[in-house]
Amino acid sequence: MSKKILICGGTGCLSSKSRLIKENLEKELKERKIEGVEVVLTGCFGFCEKGPIVKILPANNFYIEVKPEDVKDIIELDIIKDEKVERILYKDPITKEVVTDYKKMNFYQKQERRVLKNCGFINPESLDDFLKNDGYKAAKKAISEMSSEFVIKNIVDSGLRGRGGGGFPTGVKWEIASKNDAKQKYIVCNADEGDPGAFMDRSILEGDPHSVIEGMLIAGYAIGATKGLVYIRAEYPLAVERLSKAIEVARKNGYLGENLFGTHFAFDIEIKFGAGAFVCGEETALIHSMEGRRGEPTSKPPYPAEKGFWNMPTVVNNVETLVNVPRIILNGVDWFREVGTEKSPGTKVFALSGKINNVGLVEVPMGISLREIIFEIGEGIKGGKKFKAVQTGGPSGGCLNEDDLDTPIDFDSLASKGAIMGSGGMVVMDEDDCMVSVAKFFLEFTLDESCGKCTPCRIGNTRLYEILDRITQGKGKLKDLALLKELSEAIKVTSLCGLGQTSSNPVLSTLDKFYNEYIDHVIEKRCTAKVCQKLITYVITDACRGCTACTRVCAVKAIDGKVREKHTIDTEKCVRCGACMSTCRFNAIIKL
Ligand SMILES: Cc1cc2nc3c(=O)[nH]c(=O)nc-3n(C[C@H](O)[C@H](O)[C@H](O)COP(=O)(O)O)c2cc1C
Ligand code: SF4
Ligand code: SF4
Ligand code: SF4
Ligand code: FES
Repeated sequence: MSKKILICGGTGCLSSKSRLIKENLEKELKERKIEGVEVVLTGCFGFCEKGPIVKILPANNFYIEVKPEDVKDIIELDIIKDEKVERILYKDPITKEVVTDYKKMNFYQKQERRVLKNCGFINPESLDDFLKNDGYKAAKKAISEMSSEFVIKNIVDSGLRGRGGGGFPTGVKWEIASKNDAKQKYIVCNADEGDPGAFMDRSILEGDPHSVIEGMLIAGYAIGATKGLVYIRAEYPLAVERLSKAIEVARKNGYLGENLFGTHFAFDIEIKFGAGAFVCGEETALIHSMEGRRGEPTSKPPYPAEKGFWNMPTVVNNVETLVNVPRIILNGVDWFREVGTEKSPGTKVFALSGKINNVGLVEVPMGISLREIIFEIGEGIKGGKKFKAVQTGGPSGGCLNEDDLDTPIDFDSLASKGAIMGSGGMVVMDEDDCMVSVAKFFLEFTLDESCGKCTPCRIGNTRLYEILDRITQGKGKLKDLALLKELSEAIKVTSLCGLGQTSSNPVLSTLDKFYNEYIDHVIEKRCTAKVCQKLITYVITDACRGCTACTRVCAVKAIDGKVREKHTIDTEKCVRCGACMSTCRFNAIIKL
């Protein structure tokens, strides 16, 4: 059987030489006159931490951290002799056993790759590859065989909810815009993806740009829009490049433009660049930014579906939402609802990160528990440490604790526990994380990204940050905790846009789930995770050999002692920089 070599061409793997690996593979095949082996540079496989990744079909051999020098062995052993190159095969982080077939890897076993079905599988720059994998079939079916009302009915019946954060029913949004008889309407693809650590939309655009175009085509047909706009941050150059090429090729081949699929329907797409401000992901701010104005939100209603880009009805949909659309049209509503929960059907892509063994992009059926994601797909906590918290929903999400691990992942269950689904960020924390510092960290992000238009968000978050900072410095008072809660709740209900309305979620959820840690900081002036510098004391133990290395790195001369005798630290002088601890070769310095 002929073999196929898939090489990841996502941003992560490209930055670690995957293009060179591809070139070397092609060169080697040519020099050895081996024919019938297809070499494809694909989009992201999701397991970026282990990149560059090379997968060989049909055996499904999954090679990780491949270097250009490994190419000779891949050709000689795998391609020619049908053997595996053991040393670059994936090893399970727990059992340390080699896993040969990627389908047997815990990271992939529980995944249900529907949105990501083409990512890591097809060449994103090849229209042929896309067409061979059912590409544009759904658009053809919708546009030439279905009425726009029926398309919308399908999306309503599917129960698809927006994957950009809010979880608003997509079909309902389309219905509002379709009923408006304005001459010009717009479909906007929100590819701003501002959540730090999230890269699902980028991966989709890099790995399967035609699916995004197809989703926009169907959305455009459904609401009667002839124009599509993709708002994408300029710091996603590869996604921009692949999407631009895909738009051009689609246009040349009659998938964009006039008389699409032999009908009178016309649709074209333009790319608009964002400068990478988080608030510009909010739909009204995004629209202002596209109009060349300041990217500031305005109050809703009117909703963009009624009055959006240049005051015309505009449907703003997230990248992942749009890619679900062709899958639903082609496979049917029942197929879509086969996975997920009653109120949150389908799958969701998460960016799994933090103190977890398997970091990466995972697509799972909604309803799966946090425990399954963290301990089965993610294979638990790094270094055998204890799980402490998981933060879902990006910077404005909430932190959940051990008691919440069996919570099913869906829009409503997460919200009922004080967290949110958001766009799919999932950060896992262990015993070494201080939850007060975590809340402060996320708040610092939202504070930096606040547009400053309204007082509760601009001033309120500043005051929240100051209180948290005081607490981490050991200057907090008990009454500060009540103040944190009161202020957080006030900011939530009085802010103009979603940024301010959700900015205090990390504070409220950590207060709710990790109140003891706040108490430790405030009353005992102690940071149990030993993160808050001002609350730590560095102590030299009996393990000290008197090597004097620490005295030389201490910039404030806080360490004293004779050669070959136990040294001591003057806690008054110590500024808690930690330099001595990282210098001591005998692990004689500890934090208390
Ligand atoms: C501060 C803020 C940032 C947002 N960032 C994004 C984003 O990066 N991408 C996105 O699709 N939606 C983002 N949203 C949600 C959008 O405003 C909008 O609801 C969404 O794009 C609608 O598409 P959907 O219904 O398909 O989810 C953000 C919302 C807020 C309040
Ligand atoms: S809530 Fe914050 S980001 Fe939103 S409009 Fe007000 S100041 Fe701007
Ligand atoms: S570096 Fe370690 S062993 Fe050496 S003097 Fe300092 S504490 Fe003692
Ligand atoms: S923590 Fe820094 S300041 Fe304190 S004793 Fe060690 S090196 Fe000196
Ligand atoms: S970029 Fe290669 S696996 Fe994600």
